[in-house]
Amino acid sequence: MSETTIPRFVIDPREFADQRVLVTGGTKGAGQAIVRRLGAAGAVTVAVARSAVAEGTTPGLFVQADLGTPEGADAVARTVVDKLGGIDILVHNLGGSTAPGGGFAALTDQLWQDELSLNLLGAVRLDRALIPGMIERGRGVVLHISSIQRRLPLHDSTIAYAAAKAALSTYSKALSKELGPKGVRVNSIAPGWIRTTASEALVRRIAEHSGSDEAAARQSIMDALGGIPLGRPSWPEEVAELVAFLASERAASIHGSEYTIDGGTVPTV
Ligand SMILES: NC(=O)c1ccc[n+]([C@@H]2O[C@H](COP(=O)([O-])OP(=O)(O)OC[C@H]3O[C@@H](n4cnc5c(N)ncnc54)[C@H](OP(=O)(O)O)[C@@H]3O)[C@@H](O)[C@H]2O)c1
Repeated sequence: MSETTIPRFVIDPREFADQRVLVTGGTKGAGQAIVRRLGAAGAVTVAVARSAVAEGTTPGLFVQADLGTPEGADAVARTVVDKLGGIDILVHNLGGSTAPGGGFAALTDQLWQDELSLNLLGAVRLDRALIPGMIERGRGVVLHISSIQRRLPLHDSTIAYAAAKAALSTYSKALSKELGPKGVRVNSIAPGWIRTTASEALVRRIAEHSGSDEAAARQSIMDALGGIPLGRPSWPEEVAELVAFLASERAASIHGSEYTIDGGTVPTV
């Protein structure tokens, strides 16, 4: 797979026919690739983000909301139940870090709360609102996008983010134990470095903070991660392909698991 060419995969246009799919953070990066992938396979997609999207740039429904707030989660849940009667596949892709560099001392209570709201509570609130419908129907799929940082935290800039993702992975496992017997499959995905708008923004922030250029900043991320054996970050389309597999009937016996997609970055078993 090339470092410069976006990969293209064979898609069965009926695989997710009429399945109602909600993707949080579905307008950029991995979320946008997931919406496109499942939409191309026949799903009815709903993308959620804070900033409006240009007409026609996202297939299916778009709901404008800030999922860092309880009100945002309520508005999204109400809209999808009113318009679609519920959701069959819930992809909690929303996440990221807005904390400044500078390590533990730079992290105020408010910054901790922001990282936990964005990377954990947004998913918890939507699960609480939308999973009862799945239980009633006796079927459903929930996917939580975590990060390898939950096992490999970068101390300079993402301590709170890494801690929030660790909480998300454990929450996902706990939820799977409760929901498995009720027909709802729950899994999580731990990506390594994905080539997205957010990771490019992180490169620029580190370059600014350390007074170096982007190539040096990119190398510093590679070094902080201990290198990527495959030699490149993942494409959002590759993460979307893993989401499509785990959400499909092809993965019907995969439950309560976490799938790492990181080019071999995590150096341990
Ligand atoms: N990129 C990486 O290297 C990497 C590595 C490991 C894990 N991950 C995880 O993979 C997932 C996707 O990351 P990404 O890099 O693809 O993200 P991204 O490019 O930053 O896209 C984030 C998406 O979330 C939306 N969003 C951000 N804050 C929001 C809020 N408060 N409420 C609603 N929507 C919001 C954004 O749109 P608006 O700005 O318009 O709201 C955008 O659609 C995240 O969970 C991230 O933690 C990423």
